[in-house]
Amino acid sequence: MREKFGIVFLRKRLNTDYIDLYQIHWPPKDIPFGEVAQTMKKLQEQGKIRHIGISNFGIQNMQEWFNQGGTAVSNQIGYNLLFRSPEYEIVPFCRENNIGVLVYMPLMQGLLAGCWSSVEEIPLLRRRTRHFSKNRPGTRHGEEGCERLTIETVQAIHALSQHLEIPMATLSLSWLKWQKGVSSIIVGCRSKAQMENNIEALLKPLDPEVLSLLNEITYPLKRYMGKNADMWENEKNARIQ
Ligand SMILES: NC(=O)c1ccc[n+]([C@@H]2O[C@H](COP(=O)([O-])OP(=O)(O)OC[C@H]3O[C@@H](n4cnc5c(N)ncnc54)[C@H](OP(=O)(O)O)[C@@H]3O)[C@@H](O)[C@H]2O)c1
Repeated sequence: MREKFGIVFLRKRLNTDYIDLYQIHWPPKDIPFGEVAQTMKKLQEQGKIRHIGISNFGIQNMQEWFNQGGTAVSNQIGYNLLFRSPEYEIVPFCRENNIGVLVYMPLMQGLLAGCWSSVEEIPLLRRRTRHFSKNRPGTRHGEEGCERLTIETVQAIHALSQHLEIPMATLSLSWLKWQKGVSSIIVGCRSKAQMENNIEALLKPLDPEVLSLLNEITYPLKRYMGKNADMWENEKNARIQ
């Protein structure tokens, strides 16, 4: 029954008989890891999927996944200049174990594209992470957040991007691309122009001095956000363990 996991839609919607990379979106809560791992392995043996990926797995989750017979070529996680929590544990673990870090939300949903200069301007659905106060509608982390530090950090990155005459989105994506362990980046694009700019950003080299400056500028926010790699939940309720 579990073999159905979306496979039936493949032929109809994607016109293909197999999936290149099939990812477990979040660590399974209701189904034992071993059962999921076995199903994935079977799908792979049947040729329905080529590679197995995981997403939002912390180091405990990954250890359990491997102990239960799971494999993974990649771990898809949220990682960007404003959210460097994965650097504490997840990225080093992935590097040591030869698991590609596949990044989501590389532009922090547009915050790193220079679109907004105050929290009030940010669309509601994009201000639910731990950066924002628990008083913002839609948040569930119950924390104070660090809105001032977040906006100050955005402004500092913006100032550097203006000084270098490099668009902020380009600078942010280039920084990410040069982080060790990052193998792929999924960027959300609203238009053809955004996509073209983003592809160009990923092809360009970045001066190591600029990389260090960006690390320095974003370090206070990295320290504030800490090791919890769940952008939306406090440490106690974090789904990424
Ligand atoms: N595995 C998971 O749990 C998980 C969670 C979240 C997301 N994801 C994946 O990650 C993907 C990317 O995340 P995301 O789209 O939420 O965030 P994102 O890639 O950080 O931000 C995308 C937004 O940035 C703006 N943007 C992109 N390129 C730009 C450019 N060149 N100039 C100016 N603005 C630019 C656009 O904002 P405007 O719309 O304002 O123009 C766009 O909608 C998603 O499609 C999804 O597949 C996975």
